[in-house]
Amino acid sequence: MAIISSKSGSDASGSDKAQAKAKSQADKSQADKSQAGKPQAQASTPDWGTQPAAETSQPTPAESKAPNTLLKPEAEASDLPKEPGLRPQRFQDYIGQKALKEVLDIAIKAAQSRQEPLDHLLLYGPPGLGKTTMALILATEMGVACKITTAPALERPRDIAGLLVNLNRGDVLFIDEIHRLPKVTEEILYPAMEDGRLDITIGKGQSARTRSITLQPFTLVGATTKVGALTSPLRDRFGLVQRLRFYEIDELTQIVLRTADTLTTPIDESGATEIARRARGTPRIANRLLKRVRDYVEVKASGTITQGVAAEALELFNVDPCGLDWTDRRLLSVMIENFNGGPVGLDTMAAATGEDAQTIEEVYEPYLLQIGYLQRTPRGRMATPAAWHHLGYGDQAQSAVTGEDDQLSLM
Ligand code: ADE
Repeated sequence: MAIISSKSGSDASGSDKAQAKAKSQADKSQADKSQAGKPQAQASTPDWGTQPAAETSQPTPAESKAPNTLLKPEAEASDLPKEPGLRPQRFQDYIGQKALKEVLDIAIKAAQSRQEPLDHLLLYGPPGLGKTTMALILATEMGVACKITTAPALERPRDIAGLLVNLNRGDVLFIDEIHRLPKVTEEILYPAMEDGRLDITIGKGQSARTRSITLQPFTLVGATTKVGALTSPLRDRFGLVQRLRFYEIDELTQIVLRTADTLTTPIDESGATEIARRARGTPRIANRLLKRVRDYVEVKASGTITQGVAAEALELFNVDPCGLDWTDRRLLSVMIENFNGGPVGLDTMAAATGEDAQTIEEVYEPYLLQIGYLQRTPRGRMATPAAWHHLGYGDQAQSAVTGEDDQLSLM
C-alpha cells in the first residue's frame, strides 16, 4: 500500500511543529527562488489543477508496493510514529476498539465480495486514539493506496481536485480534521462522494463554463475530534459514522508491551501497566511515555522497565498517577482557586490560563470529563469534588459543593 501524505501535523508536539514550520519556510523560499522570473498566473486562470497542491508527491512504483514506513516528511512532522513498525498494519495487530473493528471487518468483507470500494467512513473521537492508523489499516486490508491530507491544507479548489483525480479505483482518501474543511472544498466533495463526479468551473464571469469529470470510485475516510462541528450535508454523505473510545488500562498495557517489543526495550508487565495507567486512555500518549521512560532507564537506571522505574521516571516528567500533566492540573486549580470550582466559561478559562480555547476543549477536557474531574453544565465548566480531592483541596470540596461557605457568611 502506498501512503502519500500532506498532513500538516495539527497534533504534533511543539518541537515537531517548529521543525515543520522551519521546513515549510525553507521549502517556500526554495519554491519562491525557483519561481523567480517565471510568469505569474493570470488572475482569470481557473483555480483547478490535476496536480494535487495539497499532496507532496505521487508514489513511484516501488513506493506503491512499500509498507507504511514510506511516510513523506510532512507526515513525519506530525505525531506519526517515526520508528518503522510501531503502527499496527493489520486488524489482527490492532489492540482495542473491538466493536469498531467488528463493524469495519463486516463492511470490508461485504465490499470485497461485491468488488466495490468501501463506503465513506467518518471516524470521530479525541486525538491520539488511532483514527489515522485505522484508515491505513482499512486501505491495507482492501489492498488499495491511502492518501493522507488534512482539511486546512485543502484551501483552494485545485487542492482537493488534484487529490481526487489522481485516485485509483478503490483508493482511500483520508482527510484529518474534516470539521475544518473550507466551504468551497466541502461543496466539491458532495458530488464526488455521492456520484463520483468532480464538477469544475472554468473561467470567470460570463464566460464561465462548468465541466464534469468522472472520478474513480473511492472511499473517503474523514477524521474529526468534533463531530458536532460538521455540517449535516457532509455528515449525511458518510455511510459509516463510527466513534473511537478511550482505551482500557489492560488494552494500553498490551500496546505498551507491543511497542516495547518493537523498540527492543526490556519491560515487565508491571512497568507496562504503570505507563498505561498514566496514559489518559490514549495509545499515542502511552507510546510517548514509554519512550520517555526508556530514556530515563538508559541514562539513570539500567535493565528492565519495572513498575518502580516507570513511576519514578514519570514523576520526574510531571505525569501524575492519573495521567494528569502540568496543564491539566493548572486548568483544574485555576478553576478551583479563581472561580471557586466553576461554573466558568471556556473562553474565560482560556484567558485565565493562557491556553488556547480549542486546545482546552479538544485535547484536555475529554479525558478530564471521562475520569469525572470535570463537568460541563449549561452555565460553564465545573471541577468535580473528585478533582478537588485529587489536587489536595479535600476539605474545601465539600463546602464548594454544598455552598457551606455562602451559608455561613449569610448567618
Ligand atoms: N500502537 C498504537 N495504537 C495501537 C493499537 N491500537 N494497537 C496496537 N498497537 C498500537
